[in-house]
Order: sequence, then structure tokens, then C-alpha cells
Amino acid sequence: MPLDIMHKIEGVIFDLDGVIVDTAQFHYAAWKKLAKEWGYALSLENNEQLKGVSRMDSVRKIAHWAGVHPTEEKLAQVAKQKNDTYLKLCGQLTPDYLLPGIADLLAQLKANKVRIALGSASKNAHFVLKKLGLSTVFDVVVDGNSVIHSKPNPEVFLKAARLMKVLPQNCVVIEDAPAGIEAALAAGMHAVGLGNPNELYKAHVVLPNATNLTMKQLNIIKGVA
Ligand code: BG6
Ligand code: MG
Repeated sequence: MPLDIMHKIEGVIFDLDGVIVDTAQFHYAAWKKLAKEWGYALSLENNEQLKGVSRMDSVRKIAHWAGVHPTEEKLAQVAKQKNDTYLKLCGQLTPDYLLPGIADLLAQLKANKVRIALGSASKNAHFVLKKLGLSTVFDVVVDGNSVIHSKPNPEVFLKAARLMKVLPQNCVVIEDAPAGIEAALAAGMHAVGLGNPNELYKAHVVLPNATNLTMKQLNIIKGVA
């Protein structure tokens, strides 16, 4: 789909884990514990491949790496155990855990009437948003409970755009995961990667974090100043 460079940004879709809050470390700790029980030492490199990926797809990947072949029932059971560990870790979250620049960017977008959505693979998104004091901030929340296909499938972002009533080409996605960048591009959207440029090289632009990420910059990324 050709990207429309004539219109300003109308909608911004934020990933949750690793963009708004550093829950990526909690997911990693919880997956590491599970992998250990299968005799597998989950590396940071492995974890990169789990970012943005749904819980069940993640547990299947880890079983594959560990060379174990549990039944579907067992996989569901260990995924639940992982989630219990994860939720316990999330218990400590407060608004202070917002990643740098996010609060300012959200406020700026709101003040300029740009629509904002959450587009996350997590089924715990509402719980995490509540802990962060962001329950009522997003115009639209699309999470792991409301989509069938996991990133890199664009479903989550296309649904967010539809619910915001904004054309995909007028949306920017902010993501920390390679799978999320691919999903944004497949949706025909602009993609800002937050994190390592070597991993997020497919994004239109990669920044270390959202500090100093302004609406003006998002429009420049889209092609209009
Ligand atoms: C994504 C995370 O946002 O959500 C993944 O990057 C996680 O690591 C996925 O597996 C699903 O999360 P949850 O909270 O539904 O287990
Ligand atoms: Mg993420």
C-alpha cells in the first residue's frame, strides 16, 4: 500500500510491554523460570524473539528450543503458571514505572486531539494499564483478548485503526519488538522502533526511547512537517 504523505498523523498506536512500561523484564524472568524447569537456559537472544509474541506462541517456541514435546493441555498449564509468576511481578507496578518520554508524549497527543490506541499482544493489558494509572487515557485498547493472530500479523494494528476511525496510512505505531515493526509495516503504517537499531532496522526510524519524541517528529517521520 503506498504511504500517504499528504496528511498529518491522526492516530498513534502504542505497544505496551517494552514501550510504555518495562514489563519485558518480567516476561523474561517468568519465561526463564519455566524454561529452566525444561532444562533450558533461556538467553536474552531467545527473549528478543518472544517480544510481541502471544503467550501460547511463546510457550510453543520455548518448548521447541528446549526440545520437549508436551501435550497441548500441558502447554496451557505451564503458560498459566508463567502468567501467575508474571502477574506477581507486575504487582509492584506504579505510575513511576512509565518509561521515559511516554507521559509527555501521551499528554501532547491528547492536547492536539490526535487519537491514541494501545495495540498489544498481552491479555494482561487492562491490568497493567490500571497499575500505571492509564486506564482512561487511550481512546481504543486492542489487546491479546481481542485478536486472533499474533504480531507480526497486522490484525492488532488494523483493528486499532478501524476503532479509532483513522486510515492505516495516517497512523504511526511505536514498538520495541521486531515482530511489532513487521506488523506495523504489513498494516501500511509508519513505524517508530524504540530500542536496538540492529534488531529494529525495518522501522522508519529507531530511537533509544521516547524521550524527546514529539508530535512534530512523528509528522516529520510521516513526511509532513
Ligand atoms: C507482548 C509481550 O506484549 O505480550 C510478550 O511482548 C508477551 O512477551 C505477550 O508474551 C503476551 O502477554 P500476556 O500478558 O498475555 O502473557
Ligand atoms: Mg513490546
